Amino acid sequence: MKQRVFSGARPTGRQHIGNYLGAIQNYVNLQEEYDCIYCIVDVHALTSLEETDRLQENIHEMMLDWLAAGLDPQKSILFVQSHVPEVMELHTLLSMVTPLGWLLRVPTFKEKARMQPQNVNYGLVGYPVLMTADIVLYKGEIVPVGEDQLPHLELAREIARRFNSIFGPTFPEPQSKLTSFPLVVGLNGTQKMGKTYDNYIELAATPEETLKLVMTAVTDPARRYRSDPGHPEVCNVFSLHHFFNPDRVDGIADECRSAGIGCVDCKQLLAQGINSELAALRERRAALAARPQYVTEVLSDGACRAQAIARDTLAEVKEKMGLVRRSV
Ligand code: TRP
Repeated sequence: MKQRVFSGARPTGRQHIGNYLGAIQNYVNLQEEYDCIYCIVDVHALTSLEETDRLQENIHEMMLDWLAAGLDPQKSILFVQSHVPEVMELHTLLSMVTPLGWLLRVPTFKEKARMQPQNVNYGLVGYPVLMTADIVLYKGEIVPVGEDQLPHLELAREIARRFNSIFGPTFPEPQSKLTSFPLVVGLNGTQKMGKTYDNYIELAATPEETLKLVMTAVTDPARRYRSDPGHPEVCNVFSLHHFFNPDRVDGIADECRSAGIGCVDCKQLLAQGINSELAALRERRAALAARPQYVTEVLSDGACRAQAIARDTLAEVKEKMGLVRRSV
């Protein structure tokens, strides 16, 4: 039997090339070898109540990108977390085997508490328990995530292990699977590409918008004039050539070092690379966007399939915890 992959992502709306290189492409590739479940975690998004009025739109836009990028509802289960409410029951049950000290030590909790001191809510503390519930409800074995999620996964393993040792073998201990792509830096050249820093290119951008955005990117600061030799190894635009012009990186690096090409030429090449890599995806996205009902159907079918698994696991857990009479 194929191993089960589970991953979740917050509904951040339209996806950018950082999401694409760092997560989505990996999700797509895993579909061939594993039994994959991918979830948009809308309840997790509520730990900060900033975008509740945009939540539905964000889910829809994100699904358009996922589907256009090649996530295939025939191969994988694609669904929205809250559509399978069993996860919230399991969250409560798992909270009983999770020592509070474990949760208060989680680095992301400490950071969030610092970032939103006016709203250090109970859900924030329980965030990793809900994440554990996501994974183990579907008996996920392999969890593709970014490096920032490793402490959460460590905790998921600890909770699973503790449950198993008290109530008998029930959950696999989920293993993380890091993507092979390094961090994708944003256009401003300093932070990770993301919505928070407004330094990103959306997958759905037009070729013209893409070119315009690439032109704003920060390059090697030592190259002030066209004739200054460049240092590709410190240049953020150059790092993107690895992904979008893989066959030309060496040539581009040489030309940058010898000032054979300027930063404007180099950015034009990058925009061309991005636009040709994403052309088919953008075309599929536009076709899907013209049929909004389709996304709804995919998600309702996904929820149905996910719920069938969730019900079985929850029944097993309730029985083990003594909430229902043991079946013989
Ligand atoms: N915490 C993850 C993030 O912020 C999202 C997430 C929720 C998740 N549940 C999950 C990731 C289960 C992997 C598995 O990115």
